[in-house]
Amino acid sequence: MSSGAVVREYPDGSWADDGPTREVEDVIESGHVLAFPRLPFVLHDAERRFLDPRWADPKAKNVSVRWPGGELRGAVGAADDLADLRRMIVRYAEQSEAFALRLFPHYRGKLRRGNTSFRPTDVKGPPRSWRQDDTRLHVDAFPSNPMQGTRLLRVFCNVNPGGRPRLWRVGEPFEAHARRYLGAIGKPAPGSAWLLATLGITKRRRTGYDHLMLQLHDRAKADMAFQRSSPQQSVEFAPGTTWVCFSDQVLHAAMGGQHMMEQTFYLAAGDLAHPASAPLAILERLTGRRLLA
Ligand code: SIN
Ligand code: FE
Repeated sequence: MSSGAVVREYPDGSWADDGPTREVEDVIESGHVLAFPRLPFVLHDAERRFLDPRWADPKAKNVSVRWPGGELRGAVGAADDLADLRRMIVRYAEQSEAFALRLFPHYRGKLRRGNTSFRPTDVKGPPRSWRQDDTRLHVDAFPSNPMQGTRLLRVFCNVNPGGRPRLWRVGEPFEAHARRYLGAIGKPAPGSAWLLATLGITKRRRTGYDHLMLQLHDRAKADMAFQRSSPQQSVEFAPGTTWVCFSDQVLHAAMGGQHMMEQTFYLAAGDLAHPASAPLAILERLTGRRLLA
């Protein structure tokens, strides 16, 4: 790929502290995806039975472990199997956390562990609504879970046993993306954030920041000309590849693949090495408004 490529590759073969790559906060904060093609999440022989969609509850989106409690969600099976499945996912949480803190020592003591998920199902599943369709380029933003400026750092690993890559598209830089739609986005109706929180539709207040992020997410997914013709690159993450990005900043779409691990971390925008690189700071600069009110 050219030097302008969104994805940067690194040679690390170890999750632990002995790997070569560290202090790459500038790289991830400037909107790159860090890819590690020689960093597999190794399953124990007995865990390979979990590489089958039958463990996923069809009603849930993913199999996941929730933190801080560590409960397993979204899986179906016998109790002792589910205990083994949970142990596998917890191991991914621990390895990816140690790894993230080596890559980004500036975030030590600040990174908060979110859900750890195992996705044994094919990306090309039954069709979803356009809003839930992650085969369309988008930045991550969730209707019920306002981030209030907090960053979403994600560590993915392709664990497909049959050689199938995870196929992604990655898109334009965040600032260009924000400029594309900001002029068309209106303000939320007065009182609506209060109402959504009071009714329990949102877990906490949907701030001006969350309103804009959700609008960017929805407008991008609804805009088929954008999906087709905006600047973008196709990327293949082969099995055994781990990749890391801020998914609230990098435009991404999952086009194919099956069997993936994913760990989400939360980081306050003020705890970045360069807070001015955050979507919050970019949107405040472009709108000339404070967005956490
Ligand atoms: C997404 O975060 O939009 C989907 C990522 C994936 O399933 O590879
Ligand atoms: Fe996404």
